[in-house]
Amino acid sequence: MSTLGVNIDHVATVRQARRTVEPDPVWAAALAELGGADAITVHLREDRRHIQDRDLEVLRRTVQVKLNLECAIAPSMIDIACRVKPCQVTLVPEKREEITTEGGLDVVAHRAATEEAVLRLKDAGITVSLFIDPCPQQIDASVDLGVAAAELHTGCYANAATEAERHNELVKLSRASAMVRLAGLELNAGHGLTYRNVVPVARLDGMGELNIGHSIVARAVFVGFTQAVREMKSLISG
Ligand code: PXP
Repeated sequence: MSTLGVNIDHVATVRQARRTVEPDPVWAAALAELGGADAITVHLREDRRHIQDRDLEVLRRTVQVKLNLECAIAPSMIDIACRVKPCQVTLVPEKREEITTEGGLDVVAHRAATEEAVLRLKDAGITVSLFIDPCPQQIDASVDLGVAAAELHTGCYANAATEAERHNELVKLSRASAMVRLAGLELNAGHGLTYRNVVPVARLDGMGELNIGHSIVARAVFVGFTQAVREMKSLISG
């Protein structure tokens, strides 16, 4: 059965729009736990556009479920991760000009830098997951690096313009999921998942953690955070 990692970045996005203290992502994390979140996910971006260092520090001390930190492979970010020691770090690509993470980490092209980051995190006792596109080369490279988990990028599935395209993307995700599981890695997925498109991904064989942010935060504006999380949790566990 899939588990739910609630990404609370966009609570911080609203706060940073006014550079004030509310809404506090730390409150959102507590409410997400009440709604049944299995993990809390935050992306500490190099430009600090939403989550701040203070948020990560406080969440490390207050979150009772798994805390998953997404960050770039840059040594300065790995320094922070090794100091704060979240339960899991998911390494993601990062471009300053992007609106959100646009593709998976290219583990093949950035093999040496990724390996360095993975080794440092593993030495610090942190579980490492790599956010990758659902393609065989990226999965093979991730397996070679000895990480515990792979998070498959579901953006192409989520953005598919037609039913046929969506079906093709789901087939790709299904094949990639089987490869990840066969290699003995934990299988996670995320990006662009919504209340309308999540179920087929949640039902893929061996699917573990689904990391979902924007859609939950968007619904929470109207129904409240705990309720929004509860509704997503019930969809993926159904
Ligand atoms: N997983 C990863 C690795 C991400 O970078 C993001 C976006 O920060 C998500 C999941 C969540 O994506 P969304 O906000 O579209 O649900």
